Amino acid sequence: MTITNQKVSNQKSHESAVGHVSGKAVYTDDQRLPAGMLSLYPVLSPHARAKITKLDCTAAYEVAGLVTILTADDISGENNTGVIIHDEVMLPTDEVSYWGQVVVWAVGETEEAARQGAAKVIVEYEPLPAILSIQEAIAADSYHLDKRVIKRGEPDTALQNSDRTLQGELEVGGQDHFYLETHTSWVVPDGENGYKVYSSTQHPSETQVIVARVLGLPNSHVVVTCLRMGGAFGGKESQANPFAAAAAVAAHKTGRPARVSLRRHQDMIVTGKRHNFLGKYQVGFTNEGLITAIKAELYAEGGWSLDLSPPVLMRAMMHIDNAYYVPHLEVQGWIAKTNRVSNTAYRGFGGPQGMIVCEEIIDRVARTLGLPPEVVRERNFYHGTGETSTTHYGQDIVHNRIALVWTEAKEKSRFSDRQAEIAQFNQTSAYKKRGIAITPVKFGISFNKTEYNQAGALVLIYTDGSIQVNHGGTEMGQGLHTKMLQVAAKSLGVKLERFRIMPTSTDKVPNTSATAASSGSDLNGQAVKAACETLRNRMATVATKMLNLDAPEDLVFEDDWIYCRTYPSARIAFDEVVKRTYSDRISLSANGFYRTPNIFWDAQLNKGRPFYYFSYGTAVSEVEVDGFTGTFKLRQVDLVQDVGESINPLLDKGQIEGGFVQGMGWLTMEELLWNDQGRLLTFAPSTYKIPTVSEVPEQFHVHLLERAAQEGVIFGSKAIGEPPFMLAMSVREAIRNAVAAFGNASQVSLAIPATPEATLWAIEAVKSDSLTAVKA
Ligand code: MTE
Ligand code: MOS
Repeated sequence: MTITNQKVSNQKSHESAVGHVSGKAVYTDDQRLPAGMLSLYPVLSPHARAKITKLDCTAAYEVAGLVTILTADDISGENNTGVIIHDEVMLPTDEVSYWGQVVVWAVGETEEAARQGAAKVIVEYEPLPAILSIQEAIAADSYHLDKRVIKRGEPDTALQNSDRTLQGELEVGGQDHFYLETHTSWVVPDGENGYKVYSSTQHPSETQVIVARVLGLPNSHVVVTCLRMGGAFGGKESQANPFAAAAAVAAHKTGRPARVSLRRHQDMIVTGKRHNFLGKYQVGFTNEGLITAIKAELYAEGGWSLDLSPPVLMRAMMHIDNAYYVPHLEVQGWIAKTNRVSNTAYRGFGGPQGMIVCEEIIDRVARTLGLPPEVVRERNFYHGTGETSTTHYGQDIVHNRIALVWTEAKEKSRFSDRQAEIAQFNQTSAYKKRGIAITPVKFGISFNKTEYNQAGALVLIYTDGSIQVNHGGTEMGQGLHTKMLQVAAKSLGVKLERFRIMPTSTDKVPNTSATAASSGSDLNGQAVKAACETLRNRMATVATKMLNLDAPEDLVFEDDWIYCRTYPSARIAFDEVVKRTYSDRISLSANGFYRTPNIFWDAQLNKGRPFYYFSYGTAVSEVEVDGFTGTFKLRQVDLVQDVGESINPLLDKGQIEGGFVQGMGWLTMEELLWNDQGRLLTFAPSTYKIPTVSEVPEQFHVHLLERAAQEGVIFGSKAIGEPPFMLAMSVREAIRNAVAAFGNASQVSLAIPATPEATLWAIEAVKSDSLTAVKA
């Protein structure tokens, strides 16, 4: 990749890069073991739904090293870990609700003792009828909460008055998070009703609340610390809580430190995944391909408990427009209540599921009219001002960069030329066909729930000039800590080397939001900057005296020096000023706080201005599909992403590449399979295929939009964590384009994920459709 026009000083690698590659970076489960640490091992439900008729633990206690079995009776507080509503029992008392649910935890001196103990626990069940799919939930009217609706205009009338209409359905698959580090929590009791929790959690404050809840203690008795995570991807936003809670209950019962560390298969069985969706739609359009109306129904599989499903569904409903203006649009949403894992946050948080339905619609409209899909896409972009640049939930799109990134991606990829080259190739190649596609992304940045859009920081300067930075965000590999150090260094005018980033901890910065919604740097960056500015102002007063100046206004803090702009040769070292600030008895620690301005959301009407701004991107993907095997090769990707004025282009590049490849995995290879008993069949890397380095495109050209500073965001930067995930929609559309080349069918149906098997079916369908067409 070439990164043009970016300051070299910003090319900082990840603060833990060496630790990551040398294996020396410490994760929760790599710490020095506290003396007497116990291990937990779960007993899992073998039924999707069943009544528990008997629980007998006597045989387990005969296992050497087994310390105790945790049952619901051991929970001194509330037996519930639900986050939005309290509908998630930590340990079931009478009924199990999904295959793989934790029924009891065995606690042993070692993990092996706990495992053997768990194997000896006798649980008897009486199986009950279970709901195992969205379709079954619809038939049984089994939902979490009421349906939600966002509506603009009069879609029914508009559909009637449209030149053309279409209707269809799309099933959208789920996705396992497959972070390298599985869920882990250590809890150390202090003997005075205080609990120190080390957890691999994206949301330490919520983990604190849940641990306090199950222990029946005030939040102040629980401190949750997250050192760093070996990946999270939304899978540790709420899902870490039950494991921290289990370790805490064990620590409470035994008075000893206790640990939960899931094995890969357990992690894949027990924890929630990306929501699979069912989308139904009706679309009206003109003969020129202008969309006049959409009516859509989105069903998200919530699973057995609610978890974060409402905001995930809402984000899907709010992104059903992707980058397109639809004058009359109604989207209704349901959360299917089933007897499967409780689905949860996953990069994009419902956005991808909503947007893929939209892109499906666009492609079908284009093929119906015999227009190139990219032409229909272009014709429907949000544009201008007023109504045509206002979303269906009432937010006007102020800095609309859709056409900008689109045009740049088209040019940079030589889209039209390559289309011609591919057509030529396909004419002479019978069994391998190439396809190319371009798709846009518009993604709203901010938490839907307004109150989450706040952050805090605590910066501590010590008398030797070394500095600790604490902020509310967690590090999961995305590089947030690195960016926060850069923000602090820039704000204080000092070198990066003096900083130590501290593990995220609820006793340093309280009441934080999850590090999620891609807003980690936006929110915490402002808080860190605010804390540094407070310190800088205090030090400026001291430096003014030291430099014999009248007022601190013209002081410059730069490269560890402090001087007056008009008289730079008289300068003093930052360290000297730190010492004097201390001896003058002025505080060298400060908090910073930030809340995102100008956002609001009416949860009754589902209208408002929920997003501070939008992130934009466009990707062009070219694939070659093998007609014998259904496999594809991603030949080339060219993408343009709007990252604003990047704080760190190297990290942003990593986020773009990683997000894109993960999105490609979701759409083309990662397939979750359950049997008819509701048992997950794909809970190991041997049966669940994630993308590897061999699937990364050989030609992968990442362009950051230039001169793109975003007003009102930390140093002009823009969020980057999730948006590139959805650029992978271009891969699916390119496969569709290649499949189309195998025949003359008007429509190409492609399953999600488009596995080799699914692609073969699509090719077969396209070929037989063409035959019918020829015969007719
Ligand atoms: N990148 C890495 N390496 N690991 C992760 O777990 N999570 C993603 C994204 N990038 C993730 C990642 C998700 S789901 C989000 S919401 C953002 O990072 C969160 O971090 P940010 O707000 O600092 O971008
Ligand atoms: Mo990301 S799904 O918002 O953790």
